Amino acid sequence: MAKYIVLGAQWGDEGKGKIVDLLAGHMDLVVRFQGGANAGHTVIIGDQKYIMHLIPGGIVSGKAVNIIGNGCVVDPITFAEEMDYLQKKGIEVSPEKLVISAQAHMVTPMHKYLDRVLNKKIGTTGRGIGPAYTDKIQRTGIRLESILDGSFVERFKQNAQLYSQFATQLYGEKFINVDESIEQLKAAGERIKPFINDTIEIIADFVRRDADILYEGAQGTMLDVDHGTYPFVTSSSTTIGGAYTGGGVYIDFDKRIGLVKAYTTRVGEGPFPTELNDETGERLRKLGNEFGATTGRPRRCGWLDLKLVQRAQIINGFNYISLSKLSCLSGFKTIKAAVDYNAQGEPVYEEFPGWEEEIEGITDLELLPENARRYIDFIEQYLGVPIGLVSTGPDRNHVIFKEALW
Ligand code: IMO
Ligand code: MG
Repeated sequence: MAKYIVLGAQWGDEGKGKIVDLLAGHMDLVVRFQGGANAGHTVIIGDQKYIMHLIPGGIVSGKAVNIIGNGCVVDPITFAEEMDYLQKKGIEVSPEKLVISAQAHMVTPMHKYLDRVLNKKIGTTGRGIGPAYTDKIQRTGIRLESILDGSFVERFKQNAQLYSQFATQLYGEKFINVDESIEQLKAAGERIKPFINDTIEIIADFVRRDADILYEGAQGTMLDVDHGTYPFVTSSSTTIGGAYTGGGVYIDFDKRIGLVKAYTTRVGEGPFPTELNDETGERLRKLGNEFGATTGRPRRCGWLDLKLVQRAQIINGFNYISLSKLSCLSGFKTIKAAVDYNAQGEPVYEEFPGWEEEIEGITDLELLPENARRYIDFIEQYLGVPIGLVSTGPDRNHVIFKEALW
C-alpha cells in the first residue's frame, strides 16, 4: 500500500485540491499537517464545487479518515462554519471521518484581529495564522486539548489582557470584545469537542496496518517560513519537513508529488521575479480565473519560474511532478519559462512556440498539440523528475496520466 505526499512547488494555488481529491478516493487516511484556514482547496466534481479551507480535501470522497494534525492551527469558529457548509452540500463530517489533534493550537478572534493590525504589509489571508503560530512558539498558545477541560477560557482571558494593552497602546486600534469572543469560542468548542483526539496514535495505527495514506500540503514551498521568500511567507513549514513535525509520525513516502502550475501566481506581497504587469499577465489571470479561493483577491500572474521550482525540488525531493492548468496557456503565440537569473537577479527566459488549440479535457497525451508536449518535455528534462500527471481542466476527469499514480 502506498504513502503519498502532495506539496505545492510555488506560492500556493497550484491546484492541490484537485489531485488530493483524485487520490483521496483510493486512500484510507488523509492528513493535513500545517497551516489552517488560510488554505483554499477547490474540488470540482461534475457541476458541484467544494472549497475547503481547513478540513482536508479527503472529506469529499467519503472513504478516507481525515486528520488535522498537531502542526495545524485550528479556529473552532471557522471549523464549525466549514462543517455546516460541507454538510449542507451533503458531505458527512463526523468524528468517524475526521479527527483533530489535541496538540493543535487554537486560532481565536484575537489572532484574526492581530493579523489585521500587525500583518498589513504581508497581505495575509487575515485568518489569524501568523499570530496563532507566534503564540505557539512563544509558549503562550492554547492547545485544542484545553477545550476538553474548559481551561481555554482562563488562558484566553490572560492572553487577551496582555494583547489588548499592546494593541491599544502601540497601534491605537479598538480591541475585540473579549466576552463576546469567549461566548463564540465556547459554542464552537462544544461542536469541535467530539473531533479532538490523539492523532499521532491514529496515524501510527494506519502506518502499522500499511494503509494507503495521503499527506495534503497547504500553501507552497515559497511560502514556507524557512525556505520561502521571507518575510513574505506564511507562518508554517509547508515543505516536507513540516509533514514530519506536523503529523508526528515517521513515514516513508513512496510518492513525493510536487504540484507545479504551468505558469506562476502569487497572492499578497513579496518578490516575484517572473511577474507580468502587462496584458499577458492580465490574460493569464483571466484564462486561469486567478482569484483567491480564500480572500477573492486577484492573484499576481507571470511565467513559469523553473529555477524556483528546481529549488522546491531540492528541498522536497519530489519524485513525481503534477503539472496543472496547462489548458490556460492555449492561444499564446510564445510561452516563456525562466531557467536562470542574471547578475541583476532578473529572470533569463527560454522561449517556446505556443499552440492555438483548446486542450481542455484532453486525457490522452498523444492528442496534445506538439508544442504543448515540447513544453512538458522541457520542464521534465530541466527538473530531472518525471511529470506523471498533467491537468487539462478543472474537472476531476480532466487529466492525462503519463505515469500511474496508484
Ligand atoms: P493554498 O493552500 C496562496 C499567502 C497570503 C500571504 C502569505 C501569508 O490555497 O495554496 P497567511 O494568511 O498564511 O499568514 O498569509 O501567504 N497564502 C497563500 N497564497 N494560497 C494559499 O493557500 C495561501 N495561504 C497563504 O496571501 O501572502
Ligand atoms: Mg489558495
